[in-house]
Amino acid sequence: MNLNKILYRTITTSKSASKKVTTNDLSSKKLKHSSQQWLSRQMSDPYVDKAKMLHYRCRSAFKLIEIDDKYKFLKPGDTVVDCGAAPGSWTQVAVNKVNADAADSKLKVGKVFSIDKQQIFPINGAAILGNMDFTQTASQEELRKALNGSKINAVISDMAPSATGIGQMDKENIIHLCYSVLRFAVLLSDIDAAVLVKLWQCGETKKLETDIGKFYRNVKIVKPNASRADSAEIFILGRNFKGLKVS
Ligand SMILES: C[S@@+](CC[C@H](N)C(=O)[O-])C[C@H]1O[C@@H](n2cnc3c(N)ncnc32)[C@H](O)[C@@H]1O
Repeated sequence: MNLNKILYRTITTSKSASKKVTTNDLSSKKLKHSSQQWLSRQMSDPYVDKAKMLHYRCRSAFKLIEIDDKYKFLKPGDTVVDCGAAPGSWTQVAVNKVNADAADSKLKVGKVFSIDKQQIFPINGAAILGNMDFTQTASQEELRKALNGSKINAVISDMAPSATGIGQMDKENIIHLCYSVLRFAVLLSDIDAAVLVKLWQCGETKKLETDIGKFYRNVKIVKPNASRADSAEIFILGRNFKGLKVS
């Protein structure tokens, strides 16, 4: 073998042995690590098993169950709008609480309208508006049409924007979603209605709480046990909507 060939072999072999780690490799490694973390967290999470057992589409169901068990703002016969509803566990809970599927013939029958950017597979008792961005005027117009004049008793939002990886930007985006829910709720709610929004604790939390308090008599920040302690996730619940004064 001539010298050139030997040199070529040495260079190519050593190159592959000390292969540079690219940004892609790093992010896929990071991804593998976070997927592993997610998997082990899921496996040791009692709410995941409970959700499977009770046929909820995801563990988030227990956040709404806990909040409503404590504050009792969802009643049989109520009209509820569920924003960011996919895959559908909050809708399942809401249908049950307001008797939207008429499961109990002795109770008033409520209505649940569920909207999400993603597809939502049908849920008995709920009107589904899938593949719709709640923040768009056209989507809210669709919701208004579906409501067909019914005043809302509760707007619940578990909406979360897709993570950008930039914490501050994600927090601003979720606050934007909360205000969009608040504006919609204020325009279409019945007196004494409730609004529930999810956000990630941030500098804007206090302002949002104050703004909700301008329209709802009782405002509470809630962190249910089912919400992971290491997550910045909190909920703001406004109850007893004051109504809009039309001058
Ligand atoms: C945490 S998940 C909701 C889980 C749901 N509450 C449940 O229990 O099954 C957040 C959802 O918000 C939706 N979302 C985010 N931004 C949205 C928007 N602008 N309009 C409608 N849905 C949105 C996402 O598509 C996602 O399905």
